Order: sequence, then C-alpha cells, then structure tokens
Amino acid sequence: MGIRISPSILSADFGHLVDECERVAQTADWLHVDVMDNHFVPNLTIGLPVVEAIVNQVSTPVDCHLMISDADRWAPSFAEAGAKSVTFHVEAAANPRQVARDIRAAGARAGMAIKPGTNLADYEDLFSELDMVLIMTVEPGFGGQSFMADQLPKVKRAREIIKNLDTDIWLQVDGGVSLDTIAMCAEAGADTFVAGSAVYNTSDPSAAITNLRELANKSIDGSWWGGC
Ligand code: DX5
Ligand code: ZN
Repeated sequence: MGIRISPSILSADFGHLVDECERVAQTADWLHVDVMDNHFVPNLTIGLPVVEAIVNQVSTPVDCHLMISDADRWAPSFAEAGAKSVTFHVEAAANPRQVARDIRAAGARAGMAIKPGTNLADYEDLFSELDMVLIMTVEPGFGGQSFMADQLPKVKRAREIIKNLDTDIWLQVDGGVSLDTIAMCAEAGADTFVAGSAVYNTSDPSAAITNLRELANKSIDGSWWGGC
C-alpha cells in the first residue's frame, strides 16, 4: 500500500497561494487546506470561495480540514466546491453520521477529525460511514505547534478498529508532524500525514515531502500493523 503526504498550506505564503501549491505538486499526494472560523478554534483562515479558487487552479486533489462550527450546515458545500476529501470535527457536528453521508453524496471522501481531548471510543460506531479518520496531534487552530506524543495510543486504537473492520479507511495525523515525529505516527498506524511547517518552512518543500515519505515508509515496513 502507499502512504499519503498532504502538505498543509497554512504555513505557505498566502500572497502567492497558487505558486505555493505548485511548489509541492511533484511530490504531494494531496493539498491540505485548513478552514477555521474563529469560533470552533481561536483563529480565522480561509473559506469557501478561496477553496473553490484553489480547486480551480491546482491539479493536486484538495483535502479540506474544517475547523468550523455547524459542520452539518457547511461540510457538503466544500465537497460541492470540488474538494475531493472533506474532514469535519466530530465535536462540531450535531449529527456526524448524516454529515458523513452528505459529504459522500456530494462526491467527496468523508473524513472525521477528533481533537486531543475527545474520546475515540464514543465514535467507533461511525467508522463504517467514513473514508478517513483524522487524529489531531495538536490542539487544532495553529501551525507550528509541538507534537503531542500522548495521542499515539489513540492512533494505534484507531488502526486496530480499522483492521478489525477490514476496510480501507485512511488514518490521518495532523499537527507537529516532522522528520522527528513522522516515524512514530507511522509505527502507531497512521498512513496519511499532514505537515505544514515541516514542509513550507524549508528551502525545498518538495524535497521535504520526499524525505518525510521515506521515513514513514521505512517505519511502516517494520511496524506491528505492517501497512496493510
Ligand atoms: C492545525 C492545522 C494543521 C496545521 C499543521 O490546526 O490543522 O493542519 O497546518 O501545521 P504543522 O504541521 O506546522 O503542525
Ligand atoms: Zn489541518
């Protein structure tokens, strides 16, 4: 199986957004776009029109991470705007099962994100509705924060659930993923990796992705779950 690296443009230069997306086009599998509303998280980034513009200008598929309240109302619109994957926070959804169904009905992969303080066990029964589960490894809201290694058991548990279900749900980690931490994430069970500052705060973002990929692949090869 192949892993996926999804660079987060939150750490890119917004003044040259399309160029910044193109800088990673050779090596990125997805483009991670963080949508924040200063309500669900204490930060405000970009919204639907900008996501739409990125989709129209860039060929890399867009992986939208919605850190917004009222996911029920907004999530399907991001799929309709052309994002190929739309991830909502379970803490922000009144009816997460329906949100996942609406995202899929609008033509995108449905992802569910979980904050560090949220108990995974409460949402296990939703896995069958999902294409991806995102375990946050920082408190959502800002790039450049320190990786929370105490979330790794949750990544491992999520991988166990996916293995038991015998389905191809992707398991994403986001926050503090870098050359120092990606191997731990892969070993625990992640197969899809978001990295913002570790990609864009380097002189060669495309090469940074290649280096991250190499480390993740190596770690999965010898891991308990073996990348199945
Ligand atoms: C944070 C965002 C992340 C952020 C990651 O809430 O969801 O996608 O861009 O940035 P780094 O990789 O720098 O921690
Ligand atoms: Zn994100």
